[in-house]
This record gives sequence, C-alpha cells and structure tokens, in this order.
Amino acid sequence: MSYNIAVDGPAGAGKSTIARAVAKRMNLIYVDTGAMYRALALYVIRCGVDPADTKKVIETCGGADITIRYEGGEQVVVLNGENVNGFLRTEEVGGMASSISPIPQVRAKLVELQRRLAAGSDCIMDGRDIGTCVLPGAQTKIYLTADSLVRAKRRYAELCARGEECDLEQIRADIEKRDYMDMHRETSPLRQAEDAVLVDTSDMTPEEVIERIVRICGQGA
Ligand code: DC
Repeated sequence: MSYNIAVDGPAGAGKSTIARAVAKRMNLIYVDTGAMYRALALYVIRCGVDPADTKKVIETCGGADITIRYEGGEQVVVLNGENVNGFLRTEEVGGMASSISPIPQVRAKLVELQRRLAAGSDCIMDGRDIGTCVLPGAQTKIYLTADSLVRAKRRYAELCARGEECDLEQIRADIEKRDYMDMHRETSPLRQAEDAVLVDTSDMTPEEVIERIVRICGQGA
C-alpha cells in the first residue's frame, strides 16, 4: 500500500510551497490538485464557455483529457497532449477554476485521476478536499491555515516582487471571498478532517512548518 499525506487549507496558506519541500525531504511525489482544476478551467476559457452555463461546462469538460507526468521531480499537467504548466497561474484561470470547481461532474473527473495517482505512488497531495473526500484513508492529514491578513501580506509581497501593482486591502478582501466560496459550496467544501492535524502558519517560517510536518509524519507513519 502506498503512503499518502493529505494537505488541505485555504488559498495562500502556503500549501504548495510546503508540500513541495516536504516531498523532496521525504522522497515523495508532490500532487498539486489545484493545478488540475486550473487546467480544466484553462480548457473552458479556451473553448469560450460561460461558467454560469453549467450544462455546457460539463459537456465541454468531456473533451478535456488531463494527465500528469513528472519531469525532474516537478508535476507537469498535460491537457490534450499539451504541457500547460505555463498557463495555469493567472488570475483569470484561478477565477475560472473557482467558478467550475463546485460542479460535481467536474470534481468526479479529477478525483478519479487523483485517487489513481495516490494508489500508485507514495505522495503528498494538496487541495481543499483531500483529507475529507479524495483520500479519507491517508496515513497523515494536515490542515494548513493562517490568518487572512498574513496570507494577504504574503501574496502582496509576491506580487510586489514581480513588479505588479496591488492593494493589500483588496487582496485581503479577495482572499476572504475565496475562503467563503471554498468553505460554503455544496460539493466537497473546504473543512478540516476530524483526524487532521491543524497547523497555523501565521507566526511560522516555511522551514519551521516543513520541520513540523515531517515530525507529524514520523509520529503517524
Ligand atoms: O489551490 P489553487 O488556487 O491552485 O486552486 C484553484 C481552485 O481550484 C480553487 O478555487 C479551489 C479549487 N480546488 C478545489 O476545489 N479542490 C481541490 N482539491 C483543489 C483546488
């Protein structure tokens, strides 16, 4: 049986940075499920479909073949044969991912792929519903969170470093809106699994968070 770590939490809690580093330390595969929702969102955008037209979104998603491969330890998302990693991290794609991810048929398609990956390899998988829905039997579950202002400041620093203009209060408002949407949707809302360990990263450095998770895994495995 493969060894699986499930990491869930709100946007900006540092899940991908931390999960990627823990994967390296523990020699696991890192599975970024947000990137899969983003790839499907990219396809919906390219097809010019209105996300409010649920029926059309479902029909369109039937034409998207999404697979994952690893290159130099990095996850590559392949959409109908094309490596789309370079297109996934935009606000437009993130917004569309947020709009289509509540649709049960969209989730079912990606959850199946996620479960197959986890069954075939020792992995750390991050998302919103990994511990509660995708991998309820994961050996270790972490719920990673941080205060919304701290998350907004991290995002602000990232955007400033890229030379992009931004407003801290606006970023905080966007983060809180996304938290609300992720936590209140009907299908697989974001919530802490009963057996997940809560890690609040508000006052921790990335290195401290990584250490903490590696230690938690040592206790649970
Ligand atoms: O973590 P992220 O920003 O890359 O996620 C993009 C969107 O996908 C976000 O709105 C939440 C959604 N998502 C989800 O519903 N379930 C997951 N397991 C991962 C992401």
